[in-house]
Amino acid sequence: MNETISFKLNDKWVSLTTDGEWTLLWVLRTDLGLTGTKYGCGKGLCGACTVIVDDRAVRSCVIPVRSIKGKGVLTIEGLRKNGKLHPIQEAFIKHDALQCGFCTSGMILNAYGLLLRNPQPTKAEIIW
Ligand code: FES
Repeated sequence: MNETISFKLNDKWVSLTTDGEWTLLWVLRTDLGLTGTKYGCGKGLCGACTVIVDDRAVRSCVIPVRSIKGKGVLTIEGLRKNGKLHPIQEAFIKHDALQCGFCTSGMILNAYGLLLRNPQPTKAEIIW
């Protein structure tokens, strides 16, 4: 059933009418044209679809868009500020961590989410 859903996306409020059961990933990629967030497994396992919702890294492929009403969503497109890449993005480039690039945005936002909660993680916490 279609409903109007408003949330803050990359620091700007957006409002759209869509099926609230669609996943956040689907809405980001199709309704809002933000294709930096990728579809991998579609089951919440691989992390390719990771975005930040209210300062927590979440798997957007398993979240109904209805559940993010009024919340703040950060995608890879919103991580760069004032034309400058985020230090995590710079680090991925510096250390050739892009691989094929498909799931890079998910890896970067998973790292970003970890550092929001734990600015000084141990190696074990990073690996976990
Ligand atoms: Fe694999 Fe979402 S696409 S966790």
